[in-house]
Amino acid sequence: MLSMRDLIAAGPVRLAPMASYTNAPYRLVARECGAGFSTNEEIDAAALLGMGMSKAAVWTAIDPGEGPVAMQLLGNSEETLVPAAVRLVEAGASVIDINMGCPAKKAVTKGKGAALMRDVPRTARILGALRRELTALDIPLTIKIRGGWDDTCLNAVEVARMAEDVGVDAITVHPRTRSQQYAGRAPWEVIADVVRAVRIPVTGNGDVRSLAEAQWMMAATGCLGVMVGRGALGRPWMFDPEHEARPVGERRAHEAATRRRHLSLIEAMLPPREALVHTRRQLSLYTTGRVGAGVVRGRIFEATSIAEAGAIFEAFEAKAAVGQTPDEGAVPLAGVSD
Ligand SMILES: Cc1cc2nc3c(=O)[nH]c(=O)nc-3n(C[C@H](O)[C@H](O)[C@H](O)COP(=O)(O)O)c2cc1C
Repeated sequence: MLSMRDLIAAGPVRLAPMASYTNAPYRLVARECGAGFSTNEEIDAAALLGMGMSKAAVWTAIDPGEGPVAMQLLGNSEETLVPAAVRLVEAGASVIDINMGCPAKKAVTKGKGAALMRDVPRTARILGALRRELTALDIPLTIKIRGGWDDTCLNAVEVARMAEDVGVDAITVHPRTRSQQYAGRAPWEVIADVVRAVRIPVTGNGDVRSLAEAQWMMAATGCLGVMVGRGALGRPWMFDPEHEARPVGERRAHEAATRRRHLSLIEAMLPPREALVHTRRQLSLYTTGRVGAGVVRGRIFEATSIAEAGAIFEAFEAKAAVGQTPDEGAVPLAGVSD
């Protein structure tokens, strides 16, 4: 079986799974920039089992250039998670990851995502059933957890020990609780507690925006790998160890080339409707933090074709290069903000 320790050590800083963002084009561009193996965005196990082949093919698409990919499932029972995991393995998953951190109400009210942290015996049964099936298929099983449900249920260590006992191969810890959602500082000390409690490899996650911060998290907590989520949106080049050292002009040119590569992958890899949606979404992320971002985003979201969205962004870039903001001479779109 693939060794999770070796896989993580080979590329310790990785893209975190993010629903609506970390599809095959984005994962591939992050890998090309230097990220370690990726995890796809969560797929609901019950929904996957009910999906037609063509829709499932879009959700589970993996490009050969990505190398090994972990596919993540959201679910609440072995009856759905086990057959869904088998389906993902058939689709090319090298690792199966179980989402135990999703805070969304629609997930937790059905006992999925972070709700799995609240019922350790039930979760142990589910992970045990997955372990048996995946051992037969020679596929590693991993989990992604939170610090706990809330301040009164901070049980990441208990859950991690249970997971190790049932044979889970690696754990990712996003140390906020479900009630914290994404707010406040991520308490990295919870990652260190989990590292000390288990022998299987631990990946830390939360508030990392650069390779230097990833090194800092590894040194501070002892984790073997780091996942970067929001800090990599619109900035896949943050995985590139050479990037920060480049002179400004070269850096900007590299960013533009990476962005174009990303857009060309979206167009080549996704069906036309999804390609337009993702082009708009990703281009708008590439404007983050830049002067005039709100206005240009509004225009990008109104574009009716990939070419139009791309042209709007390129015009924004060209104006930014000569020091103009994109709204000069144009009427700002109502209701659009940064
Ligand atoms: C838009 C969005 C979607 C997310 N979707 C998922 C998901 O599908 N599966 C998952 O395990 N975590 C998901 N997360 C959580 C991230 O993987 C990560 O744990 C969290 O954002 C903290 O890391 P960061 O501070 O580097 O962003 C999502 C986060 C965001 C912001």
